[in-house]
Amino acid sequence: MTQQVLVLPGDGIGPEITAEALKVLEALKISDGLDIEMSEDLVGGAAYDVHGVPLADETMEKAKAADAVLLGAVGGYKWESLDISVRPEKGLLRLRSEMQLFANLRPAFLFPQLANASTLKPEVVAGLDILIVRELTGGIYFGQPRGIRTLENGERQGFNTYVYSESEIKRIAHVAFQAAMKRNKKLTSVDKANVLEVTELWREIVNQIAPEYPEVEVKHMYVDNAAMQLVLNPKQFDVMVTGNMFGDILSDEASMLTGSIGMLASASLDSNNKGMYEPSHGSAPDIAGKNLANPLATILSAAMMLRYSLNREDLAVKIEAAVGKVLDQGLRTGDIFSEGMTKVSCSEMGDAVVAAL
Ligand code: IPM
Ligand code: MG
Repeated sequence: MTQQVLVLPGDGIGPEITAEALKVLEALKISDGLDIEMSEDLVGGAAYDVHGVPLADETMEKAKAADAVLLGAVGGYKWESLDISVRPEKGLLRLRSEMQLFANLRPAFLFPQLANASTLKPEVVAGLDILIVRELTGGIYFGQPRGIRTLENGERQGFNTYVYSESEIKRIAHVAFQAAMKRNKKLTSVDKANVLEVTELWREIVNQIAPEYPEVEVKHMYVDNAAMQLVLNPKQFDVMVTGNMFGDILSDEASMLTGSIGMLASASLDSNNKGMYEPSHGSAPDIAGKNLANPLATILSAAMMLRYSLNREDLAVKIEAAVGKVLDQGLRTGDIFSEGMTKVSCSEMGDAVVAAL
């Protein structure tokens, strides 16, 4: 049966990078009988400009009905002064929340060809292959109450609530343990259990589940130490599991180990592996519309979509190999460029991946 993919290019460089991923998917429809139908809609500032909200109800329904969603990026200067309730980011958060995409997989994998593109020494990052499993629908991002209130003395106070229930911790822990079983069987759970009760519970639940996966070696690490260890000795990590906000921060940090955040793909999955796929980077308004962005994170996200939601592991592997090939050819967008390489535009990079397929 034909599978339905909803494409939400979004803002900034979103439309440019998704266009390149679509080229790749279109090519696979012809060459490998990929049986998908793609439709496009608006999210983020682009949706706000048309509908007055960053995600129309109709788009939300389409996303729920689709087999997978491929998203570019949201946000930009133009919408920064809007009320927080209608900011572009809210569109993305609503998709994650209402589709119940609690498991965010962010692989920080270093293509060997890019060992020199990282700001860290090549020997520190060569061979790097980390999977960050970030809880995506809970924690301080969604905890209630939240807001800005006025105190009795007239001063305003901002507040958010960091909450995790046992069931939320359990389901993300299982995803992480299962991922570790398919990899090097090492799991690092990241928390701040020395200060925050919510992560004290997190640690307790992870330990409770651990005996179900006796082959997995479990470690716990405070988030401040984890941030340091990631740049000190990143190869000690295999799978890392953490809450929503810590995962947001650590995945940006980890991306720089791979040369550029422009290389980092992601999958956000529900309990049935239905998912949304997006690069881990943002909308980069400073280079939007200039054909300079790196489309590889989005192309690699499309590969993750084929793997996890569309049941075409073969084509996921094919895309990843094609990306390796264009890097072998020395083609680089500005973010991963180094001496002696050939600088290409966003669309040239997409064309090269299609050619390498
Ligand atoms: C990410 C982004 C989002 C997040 C923003 C755009 C809401 O930084 O996907 O990492 O904080 O989750
Ligand atoms: Mg982020």
